[in-house]
Amino acid sequence: MPERSYTALLRFLRPFRARIAVLVGIIALSSAIAVAPALVGQRLIDHGVLRGDSRAVWLLGGVLAAVGLGQSGLSYVERRYAATVAEDVVLRLRTDLFAHLQRQAPGFFTAARTGAVVSRVHGDVTGVQSVVSSTIPAAVGAVVMLVAAGGAVAVMEWRLVVLVLVLLPLLYLLTSKFTAALRRAGQDVLTSQADLDTLVAERLSPDGTEVIRHYSRPDCELPGFRVRADRVRTVSVRRAGVAAALGAVLTSVIGLTTAVVYVVSGQLVISGALSVGTMVALVALLARLYGPLTALPGVRAQLVAGLVAFDRAREVLDFAPRIAEQPGARRLPRTGTPPSVAFRDVGFGYPSPDALVVPSLAGDIDDGAGRDAVLTAVDFTAEPGSTVGIVGFSGAGKSTLTRLLTRSWDVTDGQVLVDGVDIRRLRLDDVRAAVGVVTQETFLFNDTIRANLLLARPEASTDELVAACQDAWIWPLIEQLPAGLDTVLGDRGLRLSGGERQRLAIARLLLKRPQIVVLDEATSHCDTVTEQRIQESLKPFLRERTCLVIAHRLSTVRAADLILVMRDGRVVERGRHDELVAAGGWYARLHQAQHAGGTGMSTITVDEASTTTETAGPTPTMRSHGVCRDGGVGWGWRG
Ligand SMILES: Nc1ncnc2c1ncn2[C@@H]1O[C@H](COP(=O)(O)OP(=O)(O)O)[C@@H](O)[C@H]1O
Ligand SMILES: [Mg+2]
Repeated sequence: MPERSYTALLRFLRPFRARIAVLVGIIALSSAIAVAPALVGQRLIDHGVLRGDSRAVWLLGGVLAAVGLGQSGLSYVERRYAATVAEDVVLRLRTDLFAHLQRQAPGFFTAARTGAVVSRVHGDVTGVQSVVSSTIPAAVGAVVMLVAAGGAVAVMEWRLVVLVLVLLPLLYLLTSKFTAALRRAGQDVLTSQADLDTLVAERLSPDGTEVIRHYSRPDCELPGFRVRADRVRTVSVRRAGVAAALGAVLTSVIGLTTAVVYVVSGQLVISGALSVGTMVALVALLARLYGPLTALPGVRAQLVAGLVAFDRAREVLDFAPRIAEQPGARRLPRTGTPPSVAFRDVGFGYPSPDALVVPSLAGDIDDGAGRDAVLTAVDFTAEPGSTVGIVGFSGAGKSTLTRLLTRSWDVTDGQVLVDGVDIRRLRLDDVRAAVGVVTQETFLFNDTIRANLLLARPEASTDELVAACQDAWIWPLIEQLPAGLDTVLGDRGLRLSGGERQRLAIARLLLKRPQIVVLDEATSHCDTVTEQRIQESLKPFLRERTCLVIAHRLSTVRAADLILVMRDGRVVERGRHDELVAAGGWYARLHQAQHAGGTGMSTITVDEASTTTETAGPTPTMRSHGVCRDGGVGWGWRG
């Protein structure tokens, strides 16, 4: 057990030291009082019963009753108080953990096993709770009881103290032998339970069950579950076995000792060296001693278990976030003009998972994934208020590139500059506030539509929410819901389609009003008509911002100021639409293919009255939403 764990735990408990001291006081008092009944009983027998003094019997009986009541009252106070302090400790630790986890870089969570982080915040914390709620009371109680009862025995009959002195190391040795085994078994139980939790959480999630339904028979999942559940069973049985063996050994030692005490003190009574009352009191006091004697090694085991749990929590608390703010980081002033964004010779590779997360949270997935370069020598500038379109095969590194801009990851080589300043030298909050991202997959919280939207701007009024939803073309859907904006989304609420989720994400982006906008296939799940409607209504919004737009449909990026074609992490072609078409490269071929296939959106017209998916027509009549009337196609930031 490393010393560091103790000191760390003590340091963590320091703010609670006054309350823990009060708790120790209460426990000490109630343990000391526990010796009283034996002493009163001795007088009751010797002075009352044996002398035939009925009055003394009644009187001392009354004292016994009063002591009993006092003990029960104290024990109530002690337990309640212990629980309160322990829960406050837990609250503090849990909050610290949660707050710290929130600061971790995204890589932390991709590398951690599903469910393992949850079990850290949930389960291991209770190990620390038990240190306060049961280990400390047990330890203090045991020590005080040993001193009080042992002292009383010594005063009454010093010869019996020898017995105590023999018993103490014997019991300690025996139990501590079991302690190590018990601790190992306990750790195995925790680990195997976390394994099982991970599997259950993943397989029984809505998405997980869907995949299972589509790709295998649900029964096929059972063996995998069985194996893990069976492991939990095996290690739990083993732990119970060790605990049972410990119990058996203790019981036999206690049984033997009791016999010895009866024989020795009985002989002393026969020889007249001891009164009957004292014999009864001695037997009662020694019975009081077994508890603390056997509890002490257990206390050590509990303390070890608590420290293991605390170490697991500490491991996370001590894990410095991979992406951190530099001391003296600069502010990114929010001016009227949008900032420029530049990538200077950027290279990037995803680190291996074990570098991203504390080892005990990582799965065993070190396949060396991701150490290869995902981006190489990416270099471009998005002038203030301009738009850079990015196209390319999937896996080319387009999304990775945008993640560098939000500092979800930091570049391996080169620099990402905002207004000419390396973003690593800017305040993290400012960077994240300045950049608004809509990705292909949108996560929405199990909460109302309103709450999900307000995430972007907590002070937004209902009118603003409605306007944003209108511009994102999600309002027609929300409008016809009985609860409107207060409809709950998610597992137990409304399930939105991929396209609807994306539109809500766009509404969120509109509310956030960032100065830099990243649209990463942001409307990929929407039908072409909806996509075009959104593009139209976003035009004025995007015109005033610096934008990175990633798309598969070339029509989406054709009006961009600069288009980058990416392949294997490199920019292989660059220029405006016309230049790229004229260059006759990959872009030109794709342009050709999309036109030949008739999916080129230049033939699509959006008409407000029309709700069908595609309406081909020779004259673009762009009346939708009254935002733009130029009939232009694509994200028309230039109007
Ligand atoms: N979190 C991650 N860890 C490791 N590798 C990743 C991660 N995310 C993406 N990759 C890998 O990086 C490459 C580029 O991915 P991505 O940027 O998403 O491509 P695109 O958006 O162009 O489709 C892919 O080979 C992908 O497997
Ligand atoms: Mg992508």
